[in-house]
Amino acid sequence: MNTVDIIRKKRDGDVLTPEEIRYWIAGVSDKSIPEYQSSALLMAIRLQGMTDEETAVLTDAMAHSGKLFTPEDMGGFSVDKHSTGGVGDTTTLVLIPLLAAAGLTVGKLSGRALGHTGGTIDKLESIPGFRTDLNLDEFLSLVQDTRLALADHTDDMVPADLILYELRDVTSTVDSLPLIVASIMSKKIAGGAQGIVIDVKTGAGAFLPELEDSRRLAHSLVAIGSKLGRQMSALITDMSQPLGLMTGNALEVIEAIDTLRGEGPSDLATLCCELGAELLVFAGEAATREEAVLKLDQLLMNGKALDAFRQLIGQQHGNTAVIDDLALLPRAARKVEARALHAGSVARLDALEIGRAANLLGAGRFTKEDDIDPAVGIQLNVKVGDRVEKDDILAWLHVNSEEHLDQACRMVEGAYTIDASGDPHQPPALIVERIVGTPEG
Ligand code: URA
Ligand code: CA
Repeated sequence: MNTVDIIRKKRDGDVLTPEEIRYWIAGVSDKSIPEYQSSALLMAIRLQGMTDEETAVLTDAMAHSGKLFTPEDMGGFSVDKHSTGGVGDTTTLVLIPLLAAAGLTVGKLSGRALGHTGGTIDKLESIPGFRTDLNLDEFLSLVQDTRLALADHTDDMVPADLILYELRDVTSTVDSLPLIVASIMSKKIAGGAQGIVIDVKTGAGAFLPELEDSRRLAHSLVAIGSKLGRQMSALITDMSQPLGLMTGNALEVIEAIDTLRGEGPSDLATLCCELGAELLVFAGEAATREEAVLKLDQLLMNGKALDAFRQLIGQQHGNTAVIDDLALLPRAARKVEARALHAGSVARLDALEIGRAANLLGAGRFTKEDDIDPAVGIQLNVKVGDRVEKDDILAWLHVNSEEHLDQACRMVEGAYTIDASGDPHQPPALIVERIVGTPEG
């Protein structure tokens, strides 16, 4: 086989054979195919696209480029959840212990913050002592022994994605649907889960803000996972405004603990129960989604989900006392108010601007090497649909430095559109669409 022929074929809009795709990914992984040829092929794929069949083979080949967990490794049927990334998206911190409390096996590999979106691993690391850098053996023994683990991705899983993602970043080929789907799903497949739910965000704070694009991504993720034999579903959910009230690492741990206590913001709790319900049905722990939602809601109310979070923190060497004493979490030096410039009702709250303002305070990263400040972030006081008077507090900025503070404060004020006419505004629908697959094979 010859790489030039594969590039020419895709350049001319032809469909690649499974052998050609596997040959390419093998060459990417063992570095026998030079990056300039992979770059050309990536651009050809970006311009010509791929069929579902090609994307499924690409996903499978990438998943097998490094260490891969089988269902047996995971000790049976296990579940996973993925979010396409959002602002203040505290879901994973709540959902993973919640699913464990419901009796499911959840071994989840997660990521760090990049761009305006947060990352679960950074949030967990704000818990004193919490170890996310488990090696794969430690991760697997936790999953097998306790059915619960949440750790950072390791470089020995899906190495082909690490290589290709860096190339895509510098060749303007990130925004290709088949390449995005293969990148996301190869990591899910390698993670060993049999039931997978994807939270595809839509709206201003989402990686793909337009609903049409979110819909195409959701359908493709479900199609490719189903082709590879997984039970798949995707919810398209609102990210026009941040989820819950907190955006920032330790702040979101606090929000997660509140939610696991049954005292969290209702949008966050609802989303966790709706996403979790998909997986409970897949795992046979509930007959219908309605039954599953009730069951999950109960686990938030009766303390069982919080117990599972305590267990997760303890077994990964974190200080479990944070659950009953939130003051043990990193805390910013001071809180600064952003206030309403006039009275009215909140018509819009731009998640992207809130994410950018939180990053400016130090909650996120501008490059992969940046350090984050776990204590800083933004705590919303009002959201879309709420009424405010002039000078009411819109949000608090939790800050450790005066640098960028004025700019961040203006951004938070600017993120709010306050309609002075007095007409009421409804919060956007949280769950926009649901797409379920039928596993093949
Ligand atoms: N997330 C991923 O993991 N990969 C992509 O290509 C895009 C988003
Ligand atoms: Ca939040």
